[in-house]
Amino acid sequence: MKPAAFFVARRVLPVAAALITAGAAHASESAQRTAQPWTPVTLQTALKELPKGNAAAGQKVHDGMMCASCHGTAGNASTLNWPSVAGQRADYTAKMLLDYRSGLRDEDPRARLMTSIARMMTPQQIADVSAYYASLPKPVAPQAQAALAAPLSAAELQRVERLVRKGDPSRLITACASCHGLHGEGKGTTPAIAGQTTDYFIRTMRLYHGGTRHNDVYKSMSQFSQRLGDADTVLIARYYASLGTSPQKMAKAD
Ligand code: HEC
Ligand code: HEC
Repeated sequence: MKPAAFFVARRVLPVAAALITAGAAHASESAQRTAQPWTPVTLQTALKELPKGNAAAGQKVHDGMMCASCHGTAGNASTLNWPSVAGQRADYTAKMLLDYRSGLRDEDPRARLMTSIARMMTPQQIADVSAYYASLPKPVAPQAQAALAAPLSAAELQRVERLVRKGDPSRLITACASCHGLHGEGKGTTPAIAGQTTDYFIRTMRLYHGGTRHNDVYKSMSQFSQRLGDADTVLIARYYASLGTSPQKMAKAD
């Protein structure tokens, strides 16, 4: 790192900037070379080999390793551009941390920042923080407020609900709900997406679309994101953000 860049990084955003720079160098050199794509069998084996997670210990990891500084105190990200992790499936969180660690998820400098963080974690810390996030209620703020501030019109809602629940056979799009659950609650390594921050949701769909995010074991997300137009992606992101807002809906989802 150049001294000038280091100076700016320290003054502006110490944790994030220093880690982004460290992560970029780290991942671009070594991670891509070593990353092995999963098969369903190797993924299940890797998840089974992780120690049992403890939510209380995971909270200490979340606070002690600065996860809270970006993903929020109770896992609700304070910026719409970064993912919330509250209420996430334990297996999905664990898979992401393993993917960042190996460099399999390596789509941009933000992902590389997670690579440096995940490489500092022990398998026990990965299991614990995954258990902690799964124990938290699904995200409700502030992304939900943004969704509420611009609710979908009746026509938009109708269009989105059809896509989400029935899919679109003419475009070979499978209903999102068939994997992510009727309320966006997820299952196993399929993530919960209800209440997810909109900017992150849209960004990650575009990254699947372009093939830059390619850590999906079944490659289904890259296919669906390519068949969905950008306008539908944006509507769906707003729809799922709004699903995180209603405590009743989320209670039913569990
Ligand atoms: C400096 C900010 C920052 C810190 C600190 C941080 N993260 Fe992240 N995290 C991000 C960003 C940004 C992303 C999205 C990266 C991308 O697009 O791949 C992310 C992504 C993730 C994801 C994937 C979420 C999803 O829905 O796919 C998980 C899980 C995660 N972080 C867990 C952690 C844990 C656990 C810690 C602490 C040990 C941590 N993060 C610390 C910024 C941070
Ligand atoms: C065949 C099952 C399946 C279907 C159908 C499906 N998904 Fe997914 N989706 C997945 C899996 C599995 C992942 C996790 C992939 C990985 O490991 O990165 C995922 C990941 C995602 C993510 C990233 C979440 C995060 O936190 O980073 C978003 C957003 C998403 N899906 C949205 C959708 C939308 C919108 C639809 C409907 C158009 C949809 N998915 C349909 C299986 C599916």
